[in-house]
Amino acid sequence: MTPTSDLQPTPGTGSPDDARDQRIQNWSRHWHSGVHHSCSTSFGADYAGNIAAFWHRVFSAMAPGSRVLDIATGNGALPRLLLQARPAGDWHCDAIDQASLAPRWADASAPDAPLCFHTGVAAEALPFEDARFALVVSQFGIEYSDLDSSIPELLRVLAPEGNLALVVHHADARPVQLAAIEIDHIDWLLSADGLVTTAFAMLEPLARSTTAAGRASLACDAAAELARVRFNAAQDQLSARATAADGADVLFEAQDGIARLVQLALDQGSEPAQQAWTVLRQQLADARWRLADLRARALSPAQLAALAAQLQAARPGLVSSPLHERDFLMGWCLHSVPPA
Ligand SMILES: C[S@@+](CC[C@H](N)C(=O)[O-])C[C@H]1O[C@@H](n2cnc3c(N)ncnc32)[C@H](O)[C@@H]1O
Repeated sequence: MTPTSDLQPTPGTGSPDDARDQRIQNWSRHWHSGVHHSCSTSFGADYAGNIAAFWHRVFSAMAPGSRVLDIATGNGALPRLLLQARPAGDWHCDAIDQASLAPRWADASAPDAPLCFHTGVAAEALPFEDARFALVVSQFGIEYSDLDSSIPELLRVLAPEGNLALVVHHADARPVQLAAIEIDHIDWLLSADGLVTTAFAMLEPLARSTTAAGRASLACDAAAELARVRFNAAQDQLSARATAADGADVLFEAQDGIARLVQLALDQGSEPAQQAWTVLRQQLADARWRLADLRARALSPAQLAALAAQLQAARPGLVSSPLHERDFLMGWCLHSVPPA
């Protein structure tokens, strides 16, 4: 089996329309898996630290009754922070994304929140009238869109006295660097010698090992023995990788996933375990695609300067500033809301 040949191609290898379709499909699968935001290996249920503090300041400065637009909302990480900052709900938020979303938290914990999700809506064509919003926000979102179209759209729907606050991926930032490491780990996991690929050949022998007859057949099964040796070697290699570099979360998550497959093979047989293996492999390939897309869409200093200049022409007070977490650059803020 070739591990990745039937999976999504690398971002940027097809036409822009292909890339857009892949982005929509990939993010839709991601949001329907139940996560709250896009950095789920780095943060818990919500963004934390200085990213959360930044948004708390933005939302706290908002006038009562403000209409807010969140662009590329995903499962609503920013609306969640908005609710935490302004629990009284003296605002109305429209949250758009071109992907299909599943923000179950909003139904479960905030059914009466003045919050409306719009799925299948692109930042390049916003279905809102001119000057509708007092505040337009986006977290690791707007940079995925075609900025030549989405920035004029953003400015069109922003009220003349309105504010905007964007946090975007910066090419030198920590998430972008970590993405390169995680891509390398995933490539190894899905390679012929990697943990995920070698695990597949173990599932049938494991299922067989649950009966006396199966164990007897395994005693003289050279292919099963080779599968065991290769799987053990992959486990050793995973341990070596995990101690050698940052970004090991993806390795540990894959290891946990494989442990669940092993248990499934022992409890329910090889077929359900092999089906679950296909899902795990797809999830890893999806994650790899998003990480590569993140790296491709992160803005260089020159791109950021151009974007800041474009926004400053419309909002002269706009500030362009780095967002750090401890010593790490996490992203870049473009904001006309008091940052304090
Ligand atoms: C990195 S995620 C960020 C989601 C959310 N803001 C968060 O911080 O968790 C990027 C999101 O941008 C969305 N997206 C990408 N291109 C878009 C576009 N042109 N218009 C609207 N949404 C887009 C994707 O579907 C995805 O949900």
